[in-house]
Amino acid sequence: MIKVIMDCDPGHDDVFALLTLLAHPEKVDVLGFTTVVGNQTLAKVTDNLLRVLTLIQSDVPVSAGASVHLNGLTYVQPGAHGESGLDGAALPTAKRQVTGIHAVEWIYETLKNSSEKIILIPTGPLTNIAQLLQKYPEIKSKIAYISLMGGSVYRGNVTSQAEFNIWADPEAAKIVFESGLPITMSGLEVCHAASLLHEEVDLFKSEKAVSKMVHGLLGFFNAFAKNLNQPGSPMFDVCPVMHLLYPELFIGEPMKIDIEVNGTHTRGKTVADTRLWADPKETNTFVLMDVDRPAFIQHFIEAVKIIDARLV
Ligand code: RIB
Ligand code: CA
Repeated sequence: MIKVIMDCDPGHDDVFALLTLLAHPEKVDVLGFTTVVGNQTLAKVTDNLLRVLTLIQSDVPVSAGASVHLNGLTYVQPGAHGESGLDGAALPTAKRQVTGIHAVEWIYETLKNSSEKIILIPTGPLTNIAQLLQKYPEIKSKIAYISLMGGSVYRGNVTSQAEFNIWADPEAAKIVFESGLPITMSGLEVCHAASLLHEEVDLFKSEKAVSKMVHGLLGFFNAFAKNLNQPGSPMFDVCPVMHLLYPELFIGEPMKIDIEVNGTHTRGKTVADTRLWADPKETNTFVLMDVDRPAFIQHFIEAVKIIDARLV
């Protein structure tokens, strides 16, 4: 049984990712969720997560983490995710509390006490993960690998060169990518290949609670993509989860990824060595570049239906 911890900043696509993850307890044991400032403030993303877990009747523990990035700042994204960080759906008041343990400490204790290695799935800025590795470097031996949403080989999103999760905390990303841990990177190339098209949003139209929530969230999330004249919404954070469950759907390649921490135009860029003669022994990251989109979307639709069917 695969054991995972998901570190997230819900965030519409973070929610789509956790739904996909929680739909398959026969494959994955989700030990816990941790939250990090990113799309919105720590308080908002944590409350969003607790409200979604209340709606889907999940008792997976939640531990709140960093409220600012390593540089002491925050870079919330109301344009993409709204003032709440999860605009578009009516969510219940949270009936759950956080553990009261800081995310870094909770991840550390969980890894330390585990009899087997655990996969970390960060879908927000890497602040919590970097602080874990800085404070407890020896804990790397209990991490199987890190499968993260972040970065890109070619174009950015929050700037022309950088993707948001890396750009929001490049100092943290540098620590993670230089940690020596195996990393699978779902960058913008595979995320855009895994877009949910505008005409597919109504496939979720339903009075069933989870489908109704997803339909509402997609309505808001896809409106942002429509304004950018995009054919659909990249299912960003779903990619690392879908790769964990169905790796055969993806195409990727090993690359050397360096993080540009400072740069007038390049801060937060994941600098990929794509030279034809790049040394394979120098690679540190497996970069996902493409996916079977119809199968990906079908598995997401199925995951939402599975959780809806589970509700009492
Ligand atoms: O660039 C996309 C990433 O930024 C996703 O993780 C999304 O949730 C936002 O955090
Ligand atoms: Ca996210």
